[in-house]
Amino acid sequence: MEIKKVGVVGCGLMGGGITEVCARSGYDVVTLEVKQEFLDKGIGSIRTSLERGVKKGRLTEQEKDTIAGRIKGTLNMEDFRDRDLVIEAAIENMVEKKKIFASLDKICPPNTILATNTSCLSILDMAIVTQRPAQVMGLHFFSPVPVMQLVEIVKTLVTSDEVLKAGETFCKSLGKQPVLCKDTPGFLANRLGMAYLVYVFRCYEQGIASKEDIDKAMRLGFNHPMGPLELSDFIGLDTIYYIMVSMYQDLNDPLFAPPVILKKMVTAGQLGRKTGKGFYEYK
Ligand code: CAA
Repeated sequence: MEIKKVGVVGCGLMGGGITEVCARSGYDVVTLEVKQEFLDKGIGSIRTSLERGVKKGRLTEQEKDTIAGRIKGTLNMEDFRDRDLVIEAAIENMVEKKKIFASLDKICPPNTILATNTSCLSILDMAIVTQRPAQVMGLHFFSPVPVMQLVEIVKTLVTSDEVLKAGETFCKSLGKQPVLCKDTPGFLANRLGMAYLVYVFRCYEQGIASKEDIDKAMRLGFNHPMGPLELSDFIGLDTIYYIMVSMYQDLNDPLFAPPVILKKMVTAGQLGRKTGKGFYEYK
């Protein structure tokens, strides 16, 4: 199962990052969006990131152009018909994801491996809408994708060992460090990370300390690169809320019940960096 040609569904924050790291590692990448403006924005962000690499002296102009030349943006899923691996990084909505997997299954050759970057949804549910459930796995990247080392390789009840091995080889070829985990709500990192964040929000709600001091405690006391509230603004409060709701429902565990403050902030549109206001304000 040699992977040379990669397809990425979605060119937003995660899909764009995945596209970039694949192209940087020598893969031919086709990246799909639903609208030209989303595609232009996504490809534009990749170019900016590559240009930053040139400014920092890590890439030459020629290397930048070679990497950019490996990326083809498209609005047509038919362009995935020669892909060895397709990674879905679209909206976190099971109905939409099932539609995407059913379409990919029709378009891609029988040997193509299908992966999803979902952060919390059941991968088995996506796999069973295809005729190749053993060839479906999770490849869960972390943001910012070019920087973060971790990829979770998620095995469903039916993913084949051969496909998992191909996933591991692929992640290592991107310079990433994979961990293997089961297809359970939140997989591994979000299972641990959300348990932490939910408790942080409760401490904040209870007024145990100011937001600045909560962040300072974890930055300086535990050497985290960002405090948990800064990190939440960075991830997006809507994303965190969605993951917590999904984990709470699927695991039936009150540990993951989203705190009221989180729900209120999401309702008010205070989603973090992307809206200019979350726990902190951004220009
Ligand atoms: N794209 C590419 N590179 C980026 C970047 C981006 N969006 N943001 C930062 N970088 C690079 C910078 O270019 C810089 O590179 P060099 O050191 O090689 O020059 C490096 O990262 C450090 O950046 P900065 O100096 O600007 O800023 P920093 O030191 O504060 O680091 C950070 C920024 C990397 C985001 C760091 O704060 C960090 O690691 N934060 C934690 C991020 C994290 O926990 N992510 C996981 C979120 S959870 C998730 O994604 C999963 C989920 O399912 C929700």
